[in-house]
Amino acid sequence: MKILVLLLITSIAFAQSRQERATTAADAFLNLNFYYKGRGMSVSPDLIKLYDSLNKMGLSTGELGPLYQRWGMVVQKSGNVRGLFSEPYEGMQVGVLGCVACHGGKAAGQYIVGLGNKNIDVGQIGSDAVLAMKMWGALPHRNPKFKELHERALSFTKGLSDPKITNHTQGLVPTSFIRSWFYKVKGEPIPQDFLKGLVKVPHLWGYGEKKKSGLTWGGEGNGDLGGWIPAIELSAGQSVENVREYFGEKVKHTEEIFESFLPPKYPFAVDATKAANGEKIFVKSCQGCHGTYNRDFEGLPIYDSPKLVPLRVVKTDSDRLDAMNDDLIQHIDTNPLNEYIQVWKHAEPGYVAPKLWGIWARFPYLHNMSVPTVYDLLSDPATRPKQFSMKNAGERDRFDEVRLGLTIIKKDSWKRRLYDTTRKGSSNQGHYFESFKTFTHENKLELIEYLKTL
Ligand code: HEC
Ligand code: HEC
Repeated sequence: MKILVLLLITSIAFAQSRQERATTAADAFLNLNFYYKGRGMSVSPDLIKLYDSLNKMGLSTGELGPLYQRWGMVVQKSGNVRGLFSEPYEGMQVGVLGCVACHGGKAAGQYIVGLGNKNIDVGQIGSDAVLAMKMWGALPHRNPKFKELHERALSFTKGLSDPKITNHTQGLVPTSFIRSWFYKVKGEPIPQDFLKGLVKVPHLWGYGEKKKSGLTWGGEGNGDLGGWIPAIELSAGQSVENVREYFGEKVKHTEEIFESFLPPKYPFAVDATKAANGEKIFVKSCQGCHGTYNRDFEGLPIYDSPKLVPLRVVKTDSDRLDAMNDDLIQHIDTNPLNEYIQVWKHAEPGYVAPKLWGIWARFPYLHNMSVPTVYDLLSDPATRPKQFSMKNAGERDRFDEVRLGLTIIKKDSWKRRLYDTTRKGSSNQGHYFESFKTFTHENKLELIEYLKTL
């Protein structure tokens, strides 16, 4: 009996700390960046002071202002930009990008840490930053270290805006930027037929189990070693030696943060009867790939590992998987940080069928964000929207509670905000299986109601 009481008490204490840990983790991630010894994702020294002073004068660009529209960066009421830091280095202030610039985003008007940013536009940020930095660099700067940092930042932003590499649409991130490092580090040019492999930024809750079936959308990253965590920093000009130096401490800390994340709760009403019917359909038609959804006694998710589904079965756009070709794998196998950054080879290429916790917030759907709502994803690909605007995609008025996902606006005055499924890598085909053909309108709504509970 005593043991039972003790067990109960410790498990209650543990459960309470799970919610608390999630909150602490979110705060820690909001403040995290990997800038180290003057290297990482940064712009020219002291350029950030310009933004700081505009902000202090109340002239910053506002929550839905140009910074949000043009770059897709989330701006708070205070004018602070999520994931933009001002780091001191050798008497200068350096503007630094943190992970949440991409790995924090909005859905239905809520800001959610660990959700992919639906609007981030690294290509636009890159080309605007190159322009601003060229002007900034032409002015006199006294600090002897300025030039070195400036040149490195210029090389980072030029890489981001390189037309061979970069994205053309908000929310799509070119994985080619990271892949190009494996060539650059060997002093080789990137191959002629280099694919962009454009993807949306994945959610990070459930990471501890996700990593066991392989990191990234294609599951090709070895998740045991943690080496992919600072990969983007290397592409941004961090040195191999510095990553080795900080690896042990920073990577472990970051993994602990991710492992504590919880999915965001659906913020509106859910019809329990409909959801129960939806669950029955889910068990028959979806569970085989997307797995089961168990909870601890507090109702919080018990995470488990997702499955990899061959491309030949799921038949979604192949560009992202084609990008991982033999030449690249050979380069990854021989990269100078290969003790940490390794590939997991699968019997055949495929996409991870992601666990669907917090799926309501993760639209537009699929790895290339080509399908705006769950309703469309459950319907014949021929009927799915071909173009849709990403303008204010995370705001309340763009959230469709019925079809679950993004409301459809077919046009946009600004091309980079318009998702076009006819572009390379942006196909909205696939993920339409035999059983889906039997779904009635009502069945789809029931499935959607169930997904809201996850
Ligand atoms: C420019 C946007 C961007 C930034 C900044 C960024 N990431 Fe990512 N991250 C991505 C994208 C896109 C992917 C998916 C890549 C793929 O599938 O090939 C990803 C994947 C990941 C994954 C694997 C997730 C999974 O489900 O397999 C981890 C872990 C991760 N990032 C951590 C970080 C950390 C830590 C930082 C900060 C040092 C960071 N990222 C900064 C865009 C970004
Ligand atoms: C044969 C395996 C399979 C079946 C059956 C299946 N899925 Fe999927 N699902 C996948 C794979 C693989 C992906 C990722 C594909 C991609 O991103 O290109 C996916 C992606 C999704 C996504 C988008 C996830 C995201 O983060 O954007 C949703 C939502 C989804 N599935 C819901 C369902 C529902 C609901 C059912 C049942 C009605 C179902 N799936 C049945 C394999 C499957």
